Amino acid sequence: MYSRIAGTGSYLPDKVLTNADLERMVDTTDEWIVTRTGIRERRIAAEGQMASDLALEASRRALDAAGVSASDVDLVIVATTTPDMVFPSTACILQSKLGIAGGAPAFDVQAVCSGFVYAMAIADLFMRAGKAKYALVVGAEVYSRILDWNDRSTCVLFGDGAGAVVLKPGPDPGILSTHLHADGGHHHILSVPGQVCRGGVTGHPFVVMDGGAVFRFAVKVLAEVAEEALAANSMERSQIDWLIPHQANIRIIEATARKLHVPMERVVVTVERHGNTSAASVALALDEAVRDGRIRPGQNVMLQGVGGGFTWGAVLVRM
Ligand code: UT7
Repeated sequence: MYSRIAGTGSYLPDKVLTNADLERMVDTTDEWIVTRTGIRERRIAAEGQMASDLALEASRRALDAAGVSASDVDLVIVATTTPDMVFPSTACILQSKLGIAGGAPAFDVQAVCSGFVYAMAIADLFMRAGKAKYALVVGAEVYSRILDWNDRSTCVLFGDGAGAVVLKPGPDPGILSTHLHADGGHHHILSVPGQVCRGGVTGHPFVVMDGGAVFRFAVKVLAEVAEEALAANSMERSQIDWLIPHQANIRIIEATARKLHVPMERVVVTVERHGNTSAASVALALDEAVRDGRIRPGQNVMLQGVGGGFTWGAVLVRM
């Protein structure tokens, strides 16, 4: 049995933070942010709104779109870097909020901005092995909680949100292949080097990043992993109907598309309105393009993640 995407959903918090708002908070300009990143605005979760709350709304929408009842879900995977708490996992909390706590496995995946792609790959393995029938795969983040709002080099880049898909079994793919990678030797170029320790926080509990190193690494591995996925399926670049790379920065997205000779008309871009929502970004972009009718049944979609770790990966899926 293969796994097919039966439905997608997403959710964004109400509060919009524009570049003009940021101009009043740090020494930055709309012009700098737009030319360097393509980002115009991002959403910020309300006080007390947790990753599981965003995940819950996105999940409900994905289940509705799939026509699958929450009670049929027998696997919940949440990709997040900003979990509700140290434990239990956000997936277990989501399972409870969905009213389906009852024994099926639920766990989080921590692969930072590659999280959704990692979670899809894991869910696909469960489905192919016959270990799950209806998998709920979610990317959910409240990055606003791990940003230093005085650090202009990072706080302008990220936002909050969630995206979800429901996978169901089918005789044909569906997910054609998945490709995951990590190189922990680059863990220092993007991290939140803090921890909860003896009742306090030790280290630095905010995002720190070598932006240039991240940029170069991301463009290189996104192109490589796309080629790897195409080769595994004996497909040509021209057979990619839609490229959905991690939405970090329009310049990374454009450079990747250029390397792959995929015209920007076939690339889904949401970064200008969401900023970088880390593990949620690919799921959010997928949902938007499914709902507005750009992505149609039978088309080949390349999902790509890259992020802290460093981690990267691709999921090639026929819709
Ligand atoms: O999921 C992965 C997450 N990370 C990323 O996607 C980040 C990848 N990297 C990037 O997107 C880019 O490296 C940035 C957008 C972060 C930076 O763009 P850049 O073209 O690499 O700029 P830069 O780091 O070379 O900085 C140029 C200048 C610096 O000033 P000086 O030293 O030249 O005087 C920075 O201090 O821009 C300054 N700068 C800012 N100026 C206005 C840094 N942040 C800001 C800001 N507003 N927000």
